Amino acid sequence: MAPKICPPAFVRTSKCCFPVAFSSFILVCLLAFTTQVLFFSPISPRALDLPIASSASSLPTNSRLQRAIKLGEGFVRAPEDVCLDKEGTIYTATRDGWIKRLHRNGSGENWKMIDSNTLLGITLTKEGDLVVCDAEKGLLNVGEEGITVLATHVNGSKIRFADDVIEASDGSLYFTVASTKFDLHNWYLDVLEAKPHGLLLKYDPTSTETSIVLDDLCFANGVALSRDEDYLVVCETWKFRCLKYWLKGEDKGKTEIFIENLPGGPDNINLAPDGSFWIALLQLTSDGLEFVHTSMASKHLVATFPKLIRIVNGVYKKAAVVNVAADGKIIRKFDDPNGKVMSFVTSALEWEDHLYLGSLNSNFVGKLPLKDT
Ligand SMILES: *[C@@H]1O[C@H](CO)[C@@H](O)[C@H](O)[C@H]1NC(C)=O
Ligand SMILES: *[C@@H]1O[C@H](CO)[C@@H](O)[C@H](O)[C@H]1NC(C)=O
Repeated sequence: MAPKICPPAFVRTSKCCFPVAFSSFILVCLLAFTTQVLFFSPISPRALDLPIASSASSLPTNSRLQRAIKLGEGFVRAPEDVCLDKEGTIYTATRDGWIKRLHRNGSGENWKMIDSNTLLGITLTKEGDLVVCDAEKGLLNVGEEGITVLATHVNGSKIRFADDVIEASDGSLYFTVASTKFDLHNWYLDVLEAKPHGLLLKYDPTSTETSIVLDDLCFANGVALSRDEDYLVVCETWKFRCLKYWLKGEDKGKTEIFIENLPGGPDNINLAPDGSFWIALLQLTSDGLEFVHTSMASKHLVATFPKLIRIVNGVYKKAAVVNVAADGKIIRKFDDPNGKVMSFVTSALEWEDHLYLGSLNSNFVGKLPLKDT
């Protein structure tokens, strides 16, 4: 049989002839796609080191978070952070812009409206007011009389993505900015870019000035004071570690690692009554897709098509919290390994032998008894 000759406008493969126009079309499409991904990619990434197996990840997975009782179910939408006053009233900021209160008798109250869907960390001050981080407006004070804006700018730039706040006994407010580059709705792009855009700031109530305490943080998230207020602990989410920043003593002004290689990205952190800390851990990766964090091409691709983020990001799949002693050793860990009751748990606060759990994927505040858990 005579070899099949392709007409001039066709290319020959082993089996058949393709029109040149068609194969060029595929080539052009591929080229256009790559150009589109590189040109429109919102990130300039670098590789992210995922935590190595450590004593922390050797803690066996359990399902203790599944014992959480649901408070205010249906009333609070994605309560990221929670705090409690002396009477045991729970405060939380929800996606609909309300600061809501859950009373001990079980009733819920729309307390104060802040026109924003980006409310994150909250703390109660000694004056009895609430200080709220708004990822768009900055740092706000919310009291019975109304809402005042405390801080909007630092070092000449607008404060975006304020994330968590704590008050020291002198009235100073320490608060974090997760990312100066990406906003709350695009927070996972900061994880994909894996470059440090986070800040730790201090608001001085006397001068009303805001200053930078630490910069170049890797997604600065939760912040807590030690029991003696001699240091701060600040969480760096995609670095899987927390830093200790000394406020007093001979190391004043110095920074060291408080805990690293955490089995998840640390979100909010709260001081426990015994001087240890509760840290909520985010599942930042999906099982089997860890390679995305070391492949630049994958990072660009995922960042360009936000629907892919939902697949790569593991936060909706499970939840974990750890209790870490003041010396940086993990005491215990509670999980919801398949997100059956709670996933995307962002905060854990201990009060009267119970843990109160905030989440960006729940419509309730979780309450977990610590005795016999
Ligand atoms: C529950 O307590 C709050 C605050 O004390 C009160 O305002 C509310 O009326 C109480 N609700 C019920 C149903 O008892
Ligand atoms: C503060 O602003 C100046 C001027 O814009 C800039 O050069 C500097 O890097 C900023 N400092 C920090 C810590 O961001």
